[in-house]
Amino acid sequence: MKIPRFLTGFARSLVFLFRRPIYVTLMGGPGAGKGTVAQSLAPQLGLAHLSTGALMRREVAQNTPLGQKIEKIMKAGKLVPDEIVFKLLEQELERPANWRGAILDGFPRTRAQAEWLSALFGKWYTRLTVAVQLEVSEADIIERLSGRRVCSNTTCGNTYHVKFNPPKNEGVCDKCKSALTQRADDKPEVVLARLVEYRAAQAPILEYYKHVGGLWSIHTTNANTPAQVLANVKSAVLASANR
Ligand code: AP5
Repeated sequence: MKIPRFLTGFARSLVFLFRRPIYVTLMGGPGAGKGTVAQSLAPQLGLAHLSTGALMRREVAQNTPLGQKIEKIMKAGKLVPDEIVFKLLEQELERPANWRGAILDGFPRTRAQAEWLSALFGKWYTRLTVAVQLEVSEADIIERLSGRRVCSNTTCGNTYHVKFNPPKNEGVCDKCKSALTQRADDKPEVVLARLVEYRAAQAPILEYYKHVGGLWSIHTTNANTPAQVLANVKSAVLASANR
């Protein structure tokens, strides 16, 4: 039986009044390490890991008309239109299994997305816990993306790096044992297009979060291990959750 939306909305608002969920936005350029942090931090904090990039790739894998439209946009390194991202993300956030909170990996990517998220949380009588920005130089980004390997099983999607974060057995996912592969949008020409999109959109988002409060910027380089970056992000989240 399908529960009417207003009833689940009411139940969620009631739950949120008594137990504030933790919502984290993890932002940063392509290859900044958002997915690597989120895949470890989410289980440690008992939160959902919601990657908008992974939601898009899932739609592409299903080869629906919407998936075909998204695939063309991703292959060009462009941003998927807001209305598509909002619909797919809201569906995930609304699942009762995700009511404890979530790490939003790769969202928001435009100021309009940041404003939409604030409005959604306002409607649910809650708020964003912290917006974390991972800063990495473009030279480091290019080294990261050229060596990135991802699990071909889209429900797993674990991320590795041939040098910085290799799997135990070459070419095989530690978690689910599926084959590792390279992402289609990690080709050098697509990476450059993604960087252009990122540079154009990020400054207004950072301005927005500086204005509304709750922004943490964390500078990382390839000399920092993923574990060090994870520890910094975790401290920022816990400090903000206890505010
Ligand atoms: P998405 O999948 O989100 O791609 P992205 O933002 O470009 O980020 P990446 O997934 O490439 O990198 P990451 O920061 O997660 O880095 P990772 O941890 O893997 O989005 C793809 C596309 O979907 C977009 O281009 C767009 O078209 C669309 N899309 C998604 N969200 C959207 C939205 N909100 N609105 C509109 N369109 C949207 O790390 C990279 C590599 O570095 C890995 O190999 C990792 O092992 C390694 N690494 C990680 N940390 C370190 C470290 N500390 N030192 C050294 N290496 C490290």
